[in-house]
Amino acid sequence: MNDMTTFDIEKIRRDFPIFGREVHGKPLAFLDSGASAQKPTVVLEAIQKAYSETYANVHRGVYYLSQTSTELYEGAREIVRAHINAASLDEVIFTKNATESINLVANSYGGSTLKPGDEIVLSTLEHHSNIVPWQLIAEKTGAVIKVAPIDEQGEFLLDAYRELLGPKTKIVAITHVSNSIGTITPVREIIDAAHDAGAVVLIDGSQAAPHMKLDMQTLGADFYVFTGHKVFGPTGIGVLYGKADLLDRMPPFLGGGDMINRVTFEKTTYAKGHAKFEAGTPPIVQAIGLGVAINYINGIGFERIGAHEQSLLAYATERLSQINSVRIIGQAEHKAAIISFTMEGVHPHDIGTFVDHAGVAIRVGHHCCQPLMDYFDVAATARASFALYNNRADVDALVTAVRDTQEFFS
Ligand code: ALA
Repeated sequence: MNDMTTFDIEKIRRDFPIFGREVHGKPLAFLDSGASAQKPTVVLEAIQKAYSETYANVHRGVYYLSQTSTELYEGAREIVRAHINAASLDEVIFTKNATESINLVANSYGGSTLKPGDEIVLSTLEHHSNIVPWQLIAEKTGAVIKVAPIDEQGEFLLDAYRELLGPKTKIVAITHVSNSIGTITPVREIIDAAHDAGAVVLIDGSQAAPHMKLDMQTLGADFYVFTGHKVFGPTGIGVLYGKADLLDRMPPFLGGGDMINRVTFEKTTYAKGHAKFEAGTPPIVQAIGLGVAINYINGIGFERIGAHEQSLLAYATERLSQINSVRIIGQAEHKAAIISFTMEGVHPHDIGTFVDHAGVAIRVGHHCCQPLMDYFDVAATARASFALYNNRADVDALVTAVRDTQEFFS
C-alpha cells in the first residue's frame, strides 16, 4: 500500500518489478495495459505465499489448510464486494475472465428468457466478447441484435440509442469504456433508459475497472463484469456482479462440483447464491491475488489515479496531435487514458514493430473490435493505453518513436 499524500509516481513504479528491466536495451515504456496490466510486488508475493504457505482446495476440507484457503478465497470476495459496493456477497461471482462472465449471463439469463423476436441492444463500441456471446444466444433463441450507434468523435449517441429501445428490448449489453478508443459511455443514462423500457442491462467494465471507482448500488446495472488481469491482478480470474434477485432466478451456467445442493441420478438441486455459478475448483490463488491487487489500488485511490491518467492522456494527445501524419481515432469528450491512432502511409503493425525497438510496447490491430474498425473505415490502429504506473517519459518515448517511424517510412 502507498501511504502517500501526493501521487508519487516513482514510488509506484518501484512497486512493479517489470520496470526494473530494459527491452531491446531501452527503458521499458509499457503502453499496453488495456490488453493486460503489469503486477505489483504485493500481488506476486501474495500468489507465492498462497501456493507455498496456505494452499489447499476450498469449501471441501475440515482440515486447517483447506479452511485457511477458504477464508482467503472468500475474503477476496468480500474485498471485491466492498470495492464495487455490491449489496451482498451473493452478488459477486468469480469467473475465469470478463468473457466468461458475459457468456454466463448470455447463456443463463439470455438462454432462459429470450424468445423469438426479442431484442438485444449492443453498441458499435463493443469488444467481440460483448458481441459474439449475444450472437450465439440470439441464434439459439431467435432473438435479434440491434446496434446503438456512435459518431465520428467516438461518442455514444444517447438519443439514437433511446430510439432503439421498446417493448421488444429484453437485454442491453454495453461497454463502460471502449477498449479501442477510450470513450467513456454515459452508463447511468444507458441503464435508466433500458430499465424504463423493461430491459435488463449488462455493463462491460473491463476497461473501466482499472481507471475509476465503481459503485454497483449507485449505478444500478443488473450485471457488471470485469477481469482481474487488467486491474493488476493475475490472469484467470474475472468478476460477475449480478443483482441477487436475478441470479436467484437464473439456471446454472456450468454444472459440476460445489454448485449443487443434492445430486441423484433422477434430479439435482442447486446451491444458493454465488455457489450456483462457481462449478468445479475455482481460481483460488487468482482470487486471492485479485483481492490484494484491489487493496493496492485502493491504497493509492482512484481520485489520484484518475487525475494522473487524465493528465497523461492530455499530454499524449497534445504531443501526438503535433505529428502531421498521425490521425487520432476517437476524440470523445470523456475518455479513459487510451489513444488509438493511425499514421498516413504506415501500417499499424509496422508502427508497433518499429516502436518496440525503442522499448515502447503498444497494441496494434483491430483490438477485438472489427465492427468499430469498420465504422472508422480502418483495418487496424495503433493503441497506447495507460495505467497508474505510466509517466511522461513513457509518452515522450512513444512520441519520439512515432516520429522516428514516420521519418523511416517517408
Ligand atoms: N481486450 C483487451 C484489449 O483491449 C485484450 O487489448
